[in-house]
Amino acid sequence: MREPGGKRYDRSAEDLGNITALEHVNLGIAEQGLATVFYMSGLGLTRDPYMMTSIDNMWVNVGRSQFHLPTMARAQRLRGRVGLVIPDREALLQRLHRVKDMLRDTRFAFVEHKDHVETICPWGNRILCHDPSSRFEGMALGMAYVEFDVPRGAVDGIAGFYRDVFATGARVEGTAAHVSVGIGQELIFRESDAAEAYDGHHIQVYVANFSGPHGKLVERGLLTEESNQHQYRFQQIADPATGKALFEIEHEIRSLRHPLHARPLVNRNPLQTNRAYIPGRDGWVPEPTGSKIDDPRMEMRRKRFAEATGRAAD
Ligand SMILES: [Fe+2]
Repeated sequence: MREPGGKRYDRSAEDLGNITALEHVNLGIAEQGLATVFYMSGLGLTRDPYMMTSIDNMWVNVGRSQFHLPTMARAQRLRGRVGLVIPDREALLQRLHRVKDMLRDTRFAFVEHKDHVETICPWGNRILCHDPSSRFEGMALGMAYVEFDVPRGAVDGIAGFYRDVFATGARVEGTAAHVSVGIGQELIFRESDAAEAYDGHHIQVYVANFSGPHGKLVERGLLTEESNQHQYRFQQIADPATGKALFEIEHEIRSLRHPLHARPLVNRNPLQTNRAYIPGRDGWVPEPTGSKIDDPRMEMRRKRFAEATGRAAD
């Protein structure tokens, strides 16, 4: 077997469980004006220009993921934190400073920590903004995790539930269960004494094997909605051994054949302004990571080209 440079590769590092992507978090908001100031002007994200463009709902793009923000009589509160990767911390802090006044009569706040900037939306949702790093596996802009506060003693059962029903990677570290929901993406369930009532917000993930989890949810009496051919929902995470209800959070489960799967999302460059405009830089472009992948066939291609043309390949 040929291995370039005698390298040995960790093949398991490329594995992915059955949940292939965390696509959206759905949170009711009270008013689009304040949400626009927070998510777009503050965080620097992009409103979906094609879908949900009226005033009853707005979709907000974060790399390959989204927030879905329907307008509701009462804003919803996620019982935990959403972790984003947003590049350029200095620019992020400047944007957050700039929106302070516009959001002054709301719950909005932000604090800089060593490895993230913690922000609070106008209705109290906590959104943690991290710099890109190896922890997030090459994600340069995106939704890296959703972390929920769960009751004491629940995390082993929660990890077991995702392994058993969804066939995805799930491990317990200390008092938190980490569930793989995509490349560089996790659901984290952290034991806590915080006990807030569930108000119906939801998350959405894509799964490669769609019928397997469906069958197991039906068997356990956990399925709550047969949405359509490509989607179903459930709400209760239950201990796989005892059936005991552990935590409630509605999941929209979509197959990879769902028409919206891998839909290209528009992400803008938030540094672009009318006063310091640079042509061609309206769209967000990831910074180069500097990493190169091996190519053992390069020499073979050089030789083939030299033989065919009598010239040395570049
Ligand atoms: Fe949804």
